[in-house]
Amino acid sequence: MAGNWKMYKTPADTHAFFEAFKPLVADAKNVDIVLCPPFADLHAAITETANSGIAVGAQNLYWGKEGAVTGEVSGHMLQAIGCQYVIIAHSERRQYFGESEPDVVRKIEAALEYGLTPIVCVGERLEEREEGRTEEVLATMFDGGLAPLAAEQFAKVVIAYEPVWAIGTGKTATPEIAEAAHRFIRGKVAEKFGADAAAAVRILYGGSVKPDNVTKLMSEEDIDGALVGGASLDPKSFAAIVNF
Ligand code: 13P
Repeated sequence: MAGNWKMYKTPADTHAFFEAFKPLVADAKNVDIVLCPPFADLHAAITETANSGIAVGAQNLYWGKEGAVTGEVSGHMLQAIGCQYVIIAHSERRQYFGESEPDVVRKIEAALEYGLTPIVCVGERLEEREEGRTEEVLATMFDGGLAPLAAEQFAKVVIAYEPVWAIGTGKTATPEIAEAAHRFIRGKVAEKFGADAAAAVRILYGGSVKPDNVTKLMSEEDIDGALVGGASLDPKSFAAIVNF
């Protein structure tokens, strides 16, 4: 269960969140909990989560270890401060910052090089779904962003299916719609990396996940977790999702 805070919260807000959140998930079992705050809050989040079992991730990284790349942050730096995960190719980055499939591959490889688990986002836009192109779009993203990886690299990747029309809109994909997309993605994994890799890969659903819809989504066979935006900002609601 991963939370993506996007561009919300200051370090003071981050401390307050974890003070409230930690006791609420202290008894959570059989679940990996990850929070992905903005870069400016990573230090606060990592300090707060020490010895708690809660992992911290970044929302982006740049490939390369260091260099003259103003405004960017490398996997090496994220590893050095104690990050364990990084979100890659969120639809907001694809849309506003033009991230392309070759960028996705470079970022995944950079994450793995520095021991970070990449959470790689794929998903169709509303017009693509309405045109009946969902599977084509998912296939293109898979073929361009994930299929080029070596099998041992792919084994460390988490995939997040986030239909763009369900993000921040309150329009959750129905469990059936989400399951169909997850099954399709798992099928692509099986074709490229084999049945064992397909069974092992974790595919998270993202898009208006809330405490009141998480149980139904999670009851689908191919939905292994959630990538939560808005509802991860509130300690009680994210804890309710973790503890579903
Ligand atoms: P919401 O949960 O706010 O719809 O955001 C989903 C998302 O984009 C998580 O990465």
